Amino acid sequence: MMKKGRHSRPSSSRKPSSSTLFLSILLIFSFIAIILLVFGVLSNSSSSSHSQSSHRVNDLSSIVHSTTDYDIDDGFGFDRSTERWTEVISWEPRAFVYHNFLTKDECEHLIELAKPHMMKSTVVDSETGKSKDSRVRTSSGTFLARGRDKIIRDIEKRIADFTFIPVENGEGLQVLHYEVGQKYEPHFDYFQDEFNTKNGGQRMATLLMYLSDVEEGGETVFPAPKGNFSSVPWYNELSECGKKGLSIKPKRGDALLFWSMRPDASLDPSSLHGGCPVIKGNKWSSTKWMRVHEYRT
Ligand SMILES: *[C@@H]1O[C@H](CO)[C@@H](O)[C@H](O)[C@H]1NC(C)=O
Repeated sequence: MMKKGRHSRPSSSRKPSSSTLFLSILLIFSFIAIILLVFGVLSNSSSSSHSQSSHRVNDLSSIVHSTTDYDIDDGFGFDRSTERWTEVISWEPRAFVYHNFLTKDECEHLIELAKPHMMKSTVVDSETGKSKDSRVRTSSGTFLARGRDKIIRDIEKRIADFTFIPVENGEGLQVLHYEVGQKYEPHFDYFQDEFNTKNGGQRMATLLMYLSDVEEGGETVFPAPKGNFSSVPWYNELSECGKKGLSIKPKRGDALLFWSMRPDASLDPSSLHGGCPVIKGNKWSSTKWMRVHEYRT
């Protein structure tokens, strides 16, 4: 009793001072909070005024980064060619570019593996589902089996991480070579026959990796996008064919991801795309088609 009383007395006499202390701490914290808020609002509004227009759906004039070339070495020993970043190209079709997705060595490895086995490309006959020769596709190409070596397994893992589609849903990598004048007319990657969807179901998405730069031409063109495709920042650098749609210029190491199906699993006709004729230089690319289900090899 005595002890309690003795202890409670001083505490009760300190009461007013402890509540002032509490109040002043509260005041200090709210000041800090207000200052942080003001700064937050300021930095927010300045950053959103920067990027406001780029978040407008289907506005193709404000794609965050342009794909203009920069020096391999900035003079300070910092190799900018390995900087990786993604950009949204368009929502209809749903298309994204992952810059420097592949290293120079990986690009060269794929080309070296494929080179001895290149054959004239075919297209799928929509009636029989079989491959056939075609004038709409004049490149040559070959398939590299899924998981064939360590480098390919690394690349396939990276593709799965980027697309959220499991490695097992992917077809083998196809490597393609286009020489001057060679092209692929606009087409869909999804199938319109029963035969080709038996294994793995429909093709859901495509990752197109550029293994070489192309001096002129060779763009990947989407002729039916939503939005004003002539407003992309690089429009004036495109070939005549490239100017007929939303186009991506090939750049070694870059990867273009686009979806043939919408999120509700319906087919997306705006995924219509083609490879423009190469005008100067030559074009190497590699394609990963991804299915809805596991694709057995
Ligand atoms: C599309 O964009 C280009 C370039 O910004 C512009 O000149 C043209 O008027 C636009 N077209 C339409 C239909 O808005």
